[in-house]
Amino acid sequence: MRDVLSANLIRFIPSKWEKIGDVLIFKMPVELQSYSEEIAGVYAEVLGCRSVLEDVGGVEGEWRKPRVKLVYGSSDTETIHCENGIRYKLDPVKVMFSSGNMDERIRMARISMRDETVVDMFAGIGYFSLPMAVYSKPKKVYAVEINPVAYGYLCENISLNNVNNIVEPVLGDNREKTPEGVADRVIMGYLHDTYRFLPAAFSAFHNSGMLHYHEVCPNELLNDRPLRRVETAAERFGFHVEDVKSRVIKSYAPGVSHVVLDVKVERV
Ligand SMILES: C[S@@+](CC[C@H](N)C(=O)[O-])C[C@H]1O[C@@H](n2cnc3c(N)ncnc32)[C@H](O)[C@@H]1O
Repeated sequence: MRDVLSANLIRFIPSKWEKIGDVLIFKMPVELQSYSEEIAGVYAEVLGCRSVLEDVGGVEGEWRKPRVKLVYGSSDTETIHCENGIRYKLDPVKVMFSSGNMDERIRMARISMRDETVVDMFAGIGYFSLPMAVYSKPKKVYAVEINPVAYGYLCENISLNNVNNIVEPVLGDNREKTPEGVADRVIMGYLHDTYRFLPAAFSAFHNSGMLHYHEVCPNELLNDRPLRRVETAAERFGFHVEDVKSRVIKSYAPGVSHVVLDVKVERV
C-alpha cells in the first residue's frame, strides 16, 4: 500500500470488508475516494479477489438490493460463496449476503426435525433453507421469494447443494404464495416491518409449530415490542404463544438491534 498512498493517508484504509466468494466489498472513506481503484487493486491482490465493490449505502427496498459500485476488476461479479459447507451462488451486485447473519444461518442448519414441513417466507438465495435442508433434512422446505433474481439463484443453489428432493422454491409475494395449513416451522428472516407479514405466517401453520420471527428494534423496546406484535397476531388468528426465546443477532445501527424470537405457537 505504501506504493499507492502516502503515510498520512494509509491510516484511513478500510480495516473491515466482506469477502463473498472471490468478490470483495468495502466502504471507502472520503479521504481516499480519489485513490479507490489503486487501493482496491492492492486488496484484490492480497485477498485473492477477482472484483472489488464499494458499498455506497447498504441495501435498498423490499427486495434488499445492495447499493454497490464496481471499483476494480472484472464486471462479471457472479460468484460462489462457501459457508458452513453450503455453496451459495450469487451476484453481490444484485442480491445481498449479510455476513453478520452467519451465526444465525449456522443455528438454523440443525434446528429442524426430520418429519417437519418448513416454510421459509423470505428465502432469498436460500440463506436458511439450504443449510436446514442439508443438515436437518426435514421432510419439506417451501422457500418463498419475491425477487426474480434472488429466486433464480435460489433455484440454482438448490441443485448446487443437492437438496431438490427437500426444498421447493416458490416465486412470489409470501402474502399470496405462502402454503396454508402445512407448516411445523415458519422462518421470517426479514427486517422491515416484519409484523405486517404475520397473518401469512399464522396461515401457514398446521396446528402447532415454531415461529422464528426477526425484527429490527430500538434497544429500549427489545423486551416488549417484538413479542407484543407476535402475541397480537397470534390472538387474532387463534393461536396461543409459549416458550419464547429471544436472541440478538447483531447491532443494526447505534441503539438498534436485529433480534430473532423463537416462539412455540399452538392453535387454541
Ligand atoms: C435478503 S433476505 C434477508 C437476509 C437473510 N435472512 C440472511 O441471512 O442474510 C430477505 C428476502 O426477502 C425477500 N422478500 C421481501 N419481501 C417479500 C415478500 N413479500 N414475499 C417473499 N419474499 C420477500 C427479499 O426479496 C429478500 O430476498
